[in-house]
Amino acid sequence: MKTSQTPLNEIQPTAQSKTNQFLNDVLLGLQSNPKQLYSKYFYDAIGDKLFQDLMNCEEYYPTNCELEIFSEKTAEICQAMIADGSAFDLLELGAGDATKSTYLLQYLLDNGADFTYLPIDISEHVISYLQLTLPTTLPGLKVDGLNGEYFEMLKESSANSSNRKVVLFLGSNIGNMDVQEAEAFCKALRNQLSPGDLVLIGFDLKKNPSTVLAAYNDREGITKRFNLNLLERINRELGGNFNMDNFEHYPTYDPATGACKSYLVSLCNQVVTINNQHIHFLKDECIYMEISQKFSVDDINQMAQSCNFMPANQFFDSKKWFIDVIWVAA
Ligand code: AVJ
Repeated sequence: MKTSQTPLNEIQPTAQSKTNQFLNDVLLGLQSNPKQLYSKYFYDAIGDKLFQDLMNCEEYYPTNCELEIFSEKTAEICQAMIADGSAFDLLELGAGDATKSTYLLQYLLDNGADFTYLPIDISEHVISYLQLTLPTTLPGLKVDGLNGEYFEMLKESSANSSNRKVVLFLGSNIGNMDVQEAEAFCKALRNQLSPGDLVLIGFDLKKNPSTVLAAYNDREGITKRFNLNLLERINRELGGNFNMDNFEHYPTYDPATGACKSYLVSLCNQVVTINNQHIHFLKDECIYMEISQKFSVDDINQMAQSCNFMPANQFFDSKKWFIDVIWVAA
C-alpha cells in the first residue's frame, strides 16, 4: 500500500499545480481589461500539431528562412559554438520538434563536439517526444530533456553541470515578447550565464507589412484554428464552455513598431463559464492572444549592448527576412 502511494503523492501535486496555474492565468487574463490570454498556453498536443502545420504552410515564412540559414551556414554557426573545443551544454529554449536544431546537432556530432543537448519546453508532450525520438534520429546524441519554464529549467541545468553553456532561442520565439519584455528577458538570461557563454537567437526582421500579415492570416485558416484551440483547451482542461463559432480571428501588424498582434473577437454578447466563474463578453470585445514582434538589425544590436552581450555573428537568409545572431556573454 505505502509503496504504491508514495510516487502517486509525488506526481499529483505537480499536475494539480500546473492546472491551477493555468486556471489562475486564464481567469486573471479574462477578468482584466482588455482581456488577454498567454500565448504559452497554445502548446498542448493539439496546439503543437497545429503549429507544425503552420510551419509547413505557404504564408508562414519564418521557419523556412531559418531552415535555410541552418542548412546553408551550418559549419560557420557550429564552429562558433565549438569555439575552443571544450565540453559544453547546448540548451534550447522552446525546442518544439527540434527540426531546426537537428541540422546543428548533426554537424556537431559528425565533428566530434563534446556536448549534451538539453531541450527545454513548456510542453510535456514535446519533451517526451524528443526524449523518445532523438536517440534514434541522432545516434550518439546525449539528450537530457527538461519540461518546464525557461528560467527554472536553466537554473536546474546549472545546478547539475558546470560546463560552459550555449543557449539556443530559435524560430523567433523571442517575438512572443514585446520589445521591453524581450530586453528584460535577455537581461535575465545574461544573469544565468557566465562570461564567454554563448546565445544563438533567431529574430524575425521587419519587412513588407503585407508579407508579415499574411503569415498570421493564412488562407487555410490554420492560424485561426491555432488561436481557437486555446479556447478549446480551456474547455477541455478547465471545464469551460466557450463556443468557438462565437469568436473570430483578427490579426494585425503595425509596421512602425514591428508589433504583430493577434486577437479573438467576440461576435455577440455572451457569457462564458469557467470553473463556476462567469466571464462576460460584449459583441466586438477582443481577447489579446499573442504578439509576434518583428525587429530591425539595429534594434537587435542595441538590445545585445543593453543586456551585457557582445554581438559576435549575424546569419541572414537569402531574402534577409530573418536573422540568427550569436552573442557572447560579456
Ligand atoms: C512560435 C512564437 C515563433 O509568433 O511566429 C505562429 C507562433 N503564432 N503563428 C510566431 C505563431 C501564429 C510563432 N512563434
